[in-house]
Amino acid sequence: MKSIHLLFSNFCVFTFFIAQQFHSVNCEVPHLQQPVYDSDGNIKFFPRIVGGTKAHEGDVRGIVSIQTWKNEHICGGTWFRIGNKTQILTAAHCVIDSKGHLFPKLLLQIMGDDLSISKSPGLHRQMRKVRKIVPHPYYNPENLQNDIAMIFLTTQFKETRTFAPIQLATRSVVDNQACNIAGWGYTAENGVSSIELLMANVSVVPREICNGAFSYNGRVGPYAFCAGSMGGGIDTCQGDSGGGITSQNQLVGVVSFGVGCGRRNFPGVYTNAYHYRGWIEKTINASPAINQSTVLMLATVFAAIFARSMF
Ligand code: ARG
Repeated sequence: MKSIHLLFSNFCVFTFFIAQQFHSVNCEVPHLQQPVYDSDGNIKFFPRIVGGTKAHEGDVRGIVSIQTWKNEHICGGTWFRIGNKTQILTAAHCVIDSKGHLFPKLLLQIMGDDLSISKSPGLHRQMRKVRKIVPHPYYNPENLQNDIAMIFLTTQFKETRTFAPIQLATRSVVDNQACNIAGWGYTAENGVSSIELLMANVSVVPREICNGAFSYNGRVGPYAFCAGSMGGGIDTCQGDSGGGITSQNQLVGVVSFGVGCGRRNFPGVYTNAYHYRGWIEKTINASPAINQSTVLMLATVFAAIFARSMF
C-alpha cells in the first residue's frame, strides 16, 4: 500500500469510538493499529504525547483542537502570530487525505482555550468556524514532505489570560535545542486519545543521527527535523499531528509523523516552521480579513447608494 492513511485513520478512530456507543462498529480501524510498509516490507510510517504530564491553564497558550462538526478531535493546531496577523497552523495531512482531497471546510471547527476535548465545554472554550483551508502547494502525501497547512477562521479567537497566539519562529532550530510538545493524542503507541491536554519536554535530535541507517534512513526531508530522544519514551503520537512544537515562546514546528510512538531510534518528525515563513506570510497577506463575497456585497450596496445620490 503506497498511500498513508493518516488522516483517515484518525478519523476512523473517532468514528469508531462514537459508533461503539451505538454498537455499530464497521470502521476500518486496523489501519490505525498497523504500520504502513514500503515495497521492501520495511515499516514506512506508523500513524499514531507519550510520556507526558497534564497541562495546566496557560501552560500551552496557542494550542487548538481541530474537530469535526460533531466535536470529534481530529488533530492539533496552533494559533500563531506573524507580524500583526494571527491564524491557525496545522499539518497538511490533517486536512488532506491520501488521494489529495481537501477536507470540506464546512465539516470542520476549531476549539480554543480549553484543556479538555470532552463534549461538555470548559468555562472558557471558544469554537470557531473555518473560512478557508490552505495546504502547502507542494505537500506530498507519499513522503509527507511540506506537511504544513493554514486554516483561516471566519472570526478570530479572543485572547484571554490562558489563550494567546504564539509567535512563529524567527530562527531555525539547532541541534539539542529544548522544546515542548503538547496534544490530545494517544498516550501509547496502541493506546487511546487523552481527553485532557498533555505536554512533555523534548530536544532536537541531530539530523545525522535520526536520518541515519538505524533510524529514518533518509526519510526526514530537508525542511523537517526530529525531536524526542533516541532512547524513546517521550514523543508525540496519533492525534497530536498538526499541533505545535514550541521553544522559547516561539512556534518552531508542526507534528508530522513518526514510526510508532516513543520507540527507541525513532523520535518524532516535525515540519520546520521557520522554513515556511515566506509561504505563511504570503498566504496570510493574500487572504483578506473578510471574505470576498462580503466585499462584493458591500461594494454593491455602496455603488447603489452612490448611484442614487447622483440622480
Ligand atoms: N501522524 C500522527 C497524527 O496523525 C502523528 C504522529 C507523530 N508520531 C510520532 N511518533 N511522533 O496524529
